[in-house]
Amino acid sequence: MKVAKSLNELRQMRTELKGSVGFVPTMGALHDGHASIIRKSARENPETIVSIFVNPSQFGANEDFGKYPRTLEEDLKKCEEAGASLVFIPDRLEIYGDQKPLITFNVDKEMTSILCGKDRPGHFEGVVQIVSILFNLVRPDVAYFGEKDFQQLSVIRKMVSDLHFQLEVRSVPTIRELDGLAMSSRNRFLSDDHRKLATEIYKTMKAMRAKADDALFERRAIPVEFAEDVAVKRLEEFIPDAKIDYVEIRSDDDLSKSRFLSNSSRIFIALKLGNTRLIDNMFIGKRNG
Ligand code: PAJ
Repeated sequence: MKVAKSLNELRQMRTELKGSVGFVPTMGALHDGHASIIRKSARENPETIVSIFVNPSQFGANEDFGKYPRTLEEDLKKCEEAGASLVFIPDRLEIYGDQKPLITFNVDKEMTSILCGKDRPGHFEGVVQIVSILFNLVRPDVAYFGEKDFQQLSVIRKMVSDLHFQLEVRSVPTIRELDGLAMSSRNRFLSDDHRKLATEIYKTMKAMRAKADDALFERRAIPVEFAEDVAVKRLEEFIPDAKIDYVEIRSDDDLSKSRFLSNSSRIFIALKLGNTRLIDNMFIGKRNG
């Protein structure tokens, strides 16, 4: 496995790669969720590039950019074990330069001022900015993103279609701990008590999926607002400590909101336990066939 720490090194090493190139952008602090994406890419492409870059432009002023865990040595080991051929660790100054950019992104609010964009103004602008820069540098054939950040996945798919990036976006299901908690670099900040309670997010989504299953099977119309309320009450009962940020049911296709649960419904939850913000989502509709 090679490691590129500058644009020059990347350029050189990229020309040596033959065949289809899979790309897994990350911010490091890698866990088995990341590893499963790298493994999928390595199965599907002869070459896999992983980038590790804690991107300052997607963090708000009061967010945890400074505190974001940095575990480079272990990350490199995980990349190698999972089958990466090249890890790109860009330098912040090389990526953004020291001048303000001529072109900045302005993302459509319908998709980005909801869910995680509501309290994080500028977040998706930052994501779109760095991912498009990385696409230009890495020139992947296939780019992989996790369903864990489903809104991010939707935004990237739309960006790739809008800007005609010549690559395919593939998604990877959320990898969970044994008790159902979605793996996340931020889980390490949970206290023992909060860590135990965090499983209730998964249990709540599963309970909602069971209710939606029955309703869709029996063709009963369940108002989305009612279902969201049921989920909020369950969370409040089982994790009274949690500060719920949102519980929303939206369409899997375009994140739009409908009045009733439908075959394309997905539930999205964000809450804070102590100082740690956890997000998760689950498809609760019905796939065709
Ligand atoms: P990061 O949070 O490091 O995540 C990198 C990729 O791993 C994303 O596609 C994310 O959805 C996926 N991922 C995280 N946890 C996962 C889990 N438990 N199961 C499956 N996939 C999981 O997302 C980012 O970095 C950044 O915003 C980035 C796209 C790199 C741009 O800076």
